[in-house]
Amino acid sequence: MNTSELSTINPFFVMEILEEAQQLEKKGMQIVHLEIGEPIEKVDHRIISFAKKALDRNKDKYTNSLGLIELRLLISKYYKNNFNLSIDPNRIILTLGSSGAIILSILSSTNYGDEIIIVKPHYPCYPQIIKILGRKVKFFETFEKDNYQINFKKLSNSITKKTKALIINSPSNPTSISQSEEILKKISGLKIQVISDEIYQGLSISNNVSSIFKYNSTKTIVVNGFSKLYSMTGWRLGYCILPKKIIRVGQKLQQNMFICAPTLSQHAATKAFSIPEKNKNVLLMSYKKKRDYLIKNLNKMGINIDYYPDSAFYIFCDFSKFTNNSLMFCKEILNKTGLALAPGIDFGDNYKNFVRISYAGSFSDLRKGVKLLSNFLMKYNV
Ligand SMILES: Cc1ncc(COP(=O)(O)O)c(C=O)c1O
Repeated sequence: MNTSELSTINPFFVMEILEEAQQLEKKGMQIVHLEIGEPIEKVDHRIISFAKKALDRNKDKYTNSLGLIELRLLISKYYKNNFNLSIDPNRIILTLGSSGAIILSILSSTNYGDEIIIVKPHYPCYPQIIKILGRKVKFFETFEKDNYQINFKKLSNSITKKTKALIINSPSNPTSISQSEEILKKISGLKIQVISDEIYQGLSISNNVSSIFKYNSTKTIVVNGFSKLYSMTGWRLGYCILPKKIIRVGQKLQQNMFICAPTLSQHAATKAFSIPEKNKNVLLMSYKKKRDYLIKNLNKMGINIDYYPDSAFYIFCDFSKFTNNSLMFCKEILNKTGLALAPGIDFGDNYKNFVRISYAGSFSDLRKGVKLLSNFLMKYNV
């Protein structure tokens, strides 16, 4: 039997920790999940009841490959309301999670062998997806001392003839940092294809919802989805907005590879746009409280956070006082205490001393997790 050359692909280490944690849970161990970026909130009742209605009315067949027009119109309206932009709904493709949108965006805008820049620390799957699709990864690093902001001059200098695209992720997983407006504006003017993964848009604690589209809505690509802001991780629904010139390519790829996004999820997601603004503010306040609590307690443990996470629900922490192999560290703390954390290696090969802590779960779990971590670190005596 042949083995695929893709057998050497890296695993998604956070998923591996999650799966190990689930095995321990099955054996009866209590686990505190601070590893996974999965909001604990229940999906809004409007979304749930509309999904049920859609099911009762047998709305369970394939949709148009681009997705339901009513949902694409609502997405277009969202860009009108928030950024005063007129986005043609026929530029939007509803996808199998934002993951599907990332794949379609890369395939539609680059060719086999092209070089794509990704910004470190990065979402774990980017380099693997780029490799799987036969493109080449080029890393561009950002640093905690710069609040993980992209140095535009250095970025421009790193672009060569081989470079065809750049993927940015603002706000970012794993740092929860947003790039400044000035940087977004400059990036939007680059000659290469810019793919902006904005899945954490709307989860800005400082309430500064931004988008690369503010600066260039015709040539850039936006990826977004329903997993994080609406807590719909398992509904597998995202979207990409492609430039007019390549939308037909994206559509043909979607038809051949996925046919369409999950139909029930598409119907349900139309209700996401009628959730009152005040509910979102309550959610953001709870993230702010959890973030402040976590940073305060990490500082007490000697883990200094020298940057300012403004969005989402992650803190990317330097654990070099405690380990130079955070994967081993995460496995040890999981097996000994039941605390699940994400190892830094997932976010770039030079983050072996880093750990990502997610506070997407409940406050009580966060408190438990902080206690477990603090007790565990006592043995290091720093
Ligand atoms: C930056 C980023 N992009 C994309 C995804 C994939 O999300 P989805 O569940 O929509 O596929 C994630 C998931 O954690 C993410 O953090």
